[in-house]
This record gives sequence, structure tokens and C-alpha cells, in this order.
Amino acid sequence: MQPPLRVGIAGLGTVGAAVLDILSRRAAQVAGRAGRPVVVTAVSARDRTRDRGRDLSAYRWFDDPAALAVSDEIDCLVELIGGEEGPARAAVEAALGAGKHVVTANKALLAKHGLALAAAAEAKGRALAFEASSAGGIPIVKTLRESLAGNGIARIYGILNGTCNYILSRMEQEGSSFAECLAAAQQLGYAEADPTFDVEGYDTAHKLAILTSLAFGSAIDSEAIYVEGISSITPLDLRMADELGFRIKLLGVAERVGDAGIEQRVHPTMVHKTSPVAQVMGVTNAVTVDADAVGELTLVGPGAGGSATASAVVSDIADVAAGTFGAPFGRPVAGLERAERAPMQRHKGGYYVRVTVHDRPGVAAGVASRMAEADISLESILQKRPPGADRDKLGRSGEPVPIVLITYEATEAAIRQALGEMAADGLLAEPPQVIRIERD
Ligand SMILES: NC(=O)c1ccc[n+]([C@@H]2O[C@H](COP(=O)([O-])OP(=O)(O)OC[C@H]3O[C@@H](n4cnc5c(N)ncnc54)[C@H](OP(=O)(O)O)[C@@H]3O)[C@@H](O)[C@H]2O)c1
Repeated sequence: MQPPLRVGIAGLGTVGAAVLDILSRRAAQVAGRAGRPVVVTAVSARDRTRDRGRDLSAYRWFDDPAALAVSDEIDCLVELIGGEEGPARAAVEAALGAGKHVVTANKALLAKHGLALAAAAEAKGRALAFEASSAGGIPIVKTLRESLAGNGIARIYGILNGTCNYILSRMEQEGSSFAECLAAAQQLGYAEADPTFDVEGYDTAHKLAILTSLAFGSAIDSEAIYVEGISSITPLDLRMADELGFRIKLLGVAERVGDAGIEQRVHPTMVHKTSPVAQVMGVTNAVTVDADAVGELTLVGPGAGGSATASAVVSDIADVAAGTFGAPFGRPVAGLERAERAPMQRHKGGYYVRVTVHDRPGVAAGVASRMAEADISLESILQKRPPGADRDKLGRSGEPVPIVLITYEATEAAIRQALGEMAADGLLAEPPQVIRIERD
């Protein structure tokens, strides 16, 4: 058997500690697959005195993860600190510069610096592996990079943030508000004290940036992503969605749109109740790939959690030990396409538009005619009058009432134009709600 792969783990939190556990529990299995043992020789975290419930005496301790990264005692740095800059970036750059392999779960770092880090790994002929960075325990990185190598991919989309899916699922099941369900998610440890990063879609965007590059062979371009979060979704939208045969999910979607390039977007999305991603409730993640040879593929599983994420990290470590790794993004950095950014204004699809209007004569007709003038065809209109209000003989109360419009395929620009005209006409009692519909 070859000499062991010597691993240094930087970060011993939720994921790092679980990686230590799997590597010790599955040592023989990993060695058998890799053809050589994997041994952890050194570790680093912020606080050496913290009781981690594990005996760390066999590992050399480094206060500075960048010093661990260049240590002669390791062949592979496993970076599980997190963050796009700071100690994580310093350690990964130092490791690659020193000719070490790197395994990381750090989506923020990859979304921002993935291309430069891949180039650094390539220059040294070393691995930069990141299965855990997108959708946690779901093996989507290797699926895209290896298993689907013979496919042309038209679209990839998924539920990539368990916090958002938990909140939307609970809002739907209980009819509660976003704020109530966020508070419940925080109590259960599913949401951070500052939830902005998750609920405003940025975490999903980081993961989408990585998946887009792998799916389309394009250079990672996180700045091209249109991002909208879930905080504006109301129980009324979820009820309306239900009546119309949809569920609302926060999706990350990347799609090749003809000559216009690649569209990347993160936003609350209406998905048909029968679609695979609509079945995914709670903190679970799911990714669907439209691939031309194999057809549609959906992978569902845990997107977070120590053990599930460590499962993906250990699979990368085993690849490094076996020497079975290629270009981080599936092809050499110079061969990655610099794709056009398809602008959101030109996005085409169906739309759910909820406008709140004063229940007065001519208002519904005014809304419909502004849509028609913008060349938008309506598939259905739903008007919900609140019970109990005083009404004229035609049943109108003068109170604000929601009208929900489902459109056939329209452009984002046309929808925004129609809503702008309605606002200028004084038809809207509240800001409108716009939710894009994703085709199956
Ligand atoms: N948690 C998940 O479910 C999950 C899922 C997918 C991907 N990820 C990714 O995995 C990575 C780790 O996440 P996590 O949840 O395990 O984070 P975590 O529980 O917060 O752990 C972070 C670890 O980094 C250490 N650390 C922080 N600053 C440091 C520094 N300056 N020097 C040395 N060590 C430092 C901390 O040390 P102390 O322990 O001493 O404070 C801690 O052990 C992140 O990139 C995250 O995005 C996590």
C-alpha cells in the first residue's frame, strides 16, 4: 500500500468535527477505496481550550490555519472555517501555493475566488475539491462534473437553502407569516440570529454560481446572478399558489438562453405541485438537471448538517488519496467559457402578479388593459373580495382587494412596464407582488 495521505483540518466546528468522526469511524473503508490510508496529522481552530468532546492530542495543533496549510506534516488541507476572505482564503491560497491539495466546503470563497483558486491548483497539478460546497450532502458536484460529462445541459435549478425551504413550508402548512416562521426556524437552530444571508437569497446565489460553472463549462460569475429573497412572501401568496396548483419555493435557476448567454437567477418561484422540487418540504434540498442524453434528473437530500456535509467532504478526501481528481470545474481554467450574462429584463416565462387595488368601478378593467397594452396575455384572473365589507349593488366595497393575474409567457420588462403604468394610473393601493413561474 502507498504511504498515507496526511490531512490537516482547519476548522473544527459543525462540519470539521463530523469529518474527524467519519474519518476515524470509516478509516478502513476509506483506505480500502483509496488504496492508501488517510490520516489526520494536524488541526486548527480559533480556540484551543474549547472542549470539543473529542481527544485531539494525536494531532498537531496550529493556531494559524495558514501555518497549518504550509506545514510539512500535511499533503492535503481540508478548509472548514468558512467566509470568502480572512483566514479561510489565506489558508487555501497558502496551501495551493505550497503544492498541497485542498478540500473545502466553502461556497462563499469559491463563488468569489473559485476561478483564481482553480488556476492555482491547476498550476501545481493539485486537487481543489468542493463537493460539500453546494447542496451539502447531495453529490451534485461530481454528478455534474463526472457523471453527466456526456450530456448537454439546458437548465439546472434547485432548492439550495434549507432555511428558506423550511420557512416557506411552514408558512404554507400553518398559514403563518414570514416573521413568525423565521422566528420558529431560529428557535430550532435552522436559521442564524442574522438570517439575511439565507433569507435574502445570497447563500443560494453562491451555490448556484458553482453549479452554473459545472453545468455549462463556464467561468464562475456570481456577479451575474439576479437575487431576490423570500421576505416579501405572504400567507395570501401561498394560499393563492395552492388554489392555482402551485407551491412557492426559493429556487436558484441557471439556464442557457439561446444566443443571449446564460441566465442565472435566485428568487421565490411558483412550481407546479406535481414537479419533483414541489414535493421537497422542510430543510431538505433538491437539484433538478435538464440533460439531453439522460433526460431530467432530480437529486434530493440533506443540504446541511455536520454529518451530511462531512459525507461529501470525506468523498473528496478519498478522491485526493486515490489520485482520482481532475480540473476543479471539469475543464482547464483556460477552457472555461466566458459566457454572456443574459439580463433579467429579458427573462421570459409565466408570471404570478398580485396587485392590490381599491375595489371601485373600472379598476379591474384598468389592470387588464395595462397588461394587454404591454402585450401580456392572461391565463387566469382571480379576485378575492374580503368578507364583511359594505358593498354597492355590484358587490364593490371600495376597500383594497387583491387581484391575482397568471400570465402566459411574458418578458420581465413587459411585466415591469405594465405595473409601472398601473402605479402611474393610481390603481395600486400597495406595492405589487411578482413571482415568476418555472416551467416543469
Ligand atoms: N454547517 C453546515 O451544515 C454546512 C453545510 C455546507 C457547507 N458548510 C460550509 O462548511 C464550512 C464550515 O461550516 P461550519 O458550519 O462547520 O462552521 P462553524 O461550525 O462555525 O465552524 C467554523 C470553525 O472554524 C474555526 N475558525 C474560525 N475562525 C478561525 C480562525 N481565524 N482560525 C482558525 N480557525 C477558525 C472555528 O474555530 P472555533 O471552533 O475555535 O470557534 C470553528 O471550529 C463553511 O464554509 C460552511 O459554509 C457548512
